Amino acid sequence: MGALKLAAVLGLVSVLLGYYFLKDTDVEPPKMADQWWGKGATPKEDSKDIIKFEIRVNATEIDGLKLRLENTRYFEALEDVQSFQYGFHATYMKQVVNYWMESYLPNWAKHEEHLNKFPHFKTMIGGIMVHFIHIKPKLKTGQTSTPLVLMHGWAGSVYEFYRAIDLLTDQRSDTVFEIICPSIPGFGWSEAPHRAGFDQVATARVFLRLMDRLKLNRFYIQGGDWGFIVAKYMTLLQPAKILGLHMNMAVYQFPWSPTLGGMARQLIADKFPALFVKTEDMWKVINTAEKLMFWVQEMGFFHLQATKPDTVGFGLTDSPVGLAAYILEKFSTLTNEDYRNAPDGNLEKDFSLDDLLTNVMVYWTTNTITSSMRYYKEFFEREGNEKFNAKVKSVPTGLACYSNEVGGCAPKEFTDLNYLNTIHYSDAPKGGHFAAFEVPDYFVKDIKTFVNKVEKLKKDETE
Ligand SMILES: *[C@@H]1O[C@H](CO)[C@@H](O)[C@H](O)[C@H]1NC(C)=O
Repeated sequence: MGALKLAAVLGLVSVLLGYYFLKDTDVEPPKMADQWWGKGATPKEDSKDIIKFEIRVNATEIDGLKLRLENTRYFEALEDVQSFQYGFHATYMKQVVNYWMESYLPNWAKHEEHLNKFPHFKTMIGGIMVHFIHIKPKLKTGQTSTPLVLMHGWAGSVYEFYRAIDLLTDQRSDTVFEIICPSIPGFGWSEAPHRAGFDQVATARVFLRLMDRLKLNRFYIQGGDWGFIVAKYMTLLQPAKILGLHMNMAVYQFPWSPTLGGMARQLIADKFPALFVKTEDMWKVINTAEKLMFWVQEMGFFHLQATKPDTVGFGLTDSPVGLAAYILEKFSTLTNEDYRNAPDGNLEKDFSLDDLLTNVMVYWTTNTITSSMRYYKEFFEREGNEKFNAKVKSVPTGLACYSNEVGGCAPKEFTDLNYLNTIHYSDAPKGGHFAAFEVPDYFVKDIKTFVNKVEKLKKDETE
């Protein structure tokens, strides 16, 4: 009887606390500014030229890479571990390296052509050259296109979107998109910032300036991983420009920067999910302890990159095998955590080795792994982290929940508190963290559904 009473009292207190904290406090959004990331302390005026360019990696560089691959020093794998539980498995790595040397690199011209199938450009913003793919689709008479910005994260690149871009620009479909797909500065073909402090807010400012330069005044934006944080900041900085915000990380508050109310809600929902969400969504809030365990097991890279990115950068910059292990392990575990139990991390189950190696080549040939890792440190030490919980008030928002997303998805009842005009929330039947790369058909279908909803709402308003 005593235990029952105690449970009832605890329950009541939790309910009261829960409802009290439902009133989340808002955070002041960041503001637009021009910042300087170029060489030297004195800002100079940016050239406004937009330069077309092709990706070219010369024979000397390819030979240099081959030499390193041939001279790799391996280590002995554990006898009784045939999985990715200790990280990328040495036996499988030897297969990957063999394929890289014997099949992939001899065909580099073909992969390079494939990378160049879309038009690439660079333009200077804040003293650094920013790379982007820009596709204006061929239209039939009477057809119009819708501008859409696609934003990648770590350890990905613009290459994650190649299949999705094919589908989005297909002139046979009802909605045809004009695609702008930029590389985050310090990732791939965008120049790395030369000065400390280049965080996610700074990226959002740079990408908004890029859209100004392209004379695109209203557009849709889409992001996953860091791309979703950049997308949110773009929306907070210049909401009038954003036709719609679509994200494939249905996150309520970033796990490293929750508000007090957000934290309380998560913890209470963990024990009393029925107070907050529908039965079918309970899996999205329960098991905080299990989630925490997953973070501890899998987020070592995050801690490392948020603290000493340059230290680990030496190894990864100097060893292509180290780089491939570091990047590709993420494409295994973050696609499906159960893949840790497979001897090859099931890497070739959802991706081709060619595509995976092309993504590694983006980092290798541009020497950007270190600058890409610094992005984590800047998130924690700059304004980004503080402002992340500001609410998106009026911009139509669409969220896609992929069931294997790292750390799970937040239920719509939670995301609604942060995105006040959520008009679309979808539960994808399959897919993990790199959704555009893994399930491009669903990824594109979901964006189109969202955009059609926004366009219909706009039409209804004007009628
Ligand atoms: C090959 O490319 C590298 C890096 O861009 C450059 O430093 C080098 O001069 C190039 N070599 C030749 C022979 O073009």
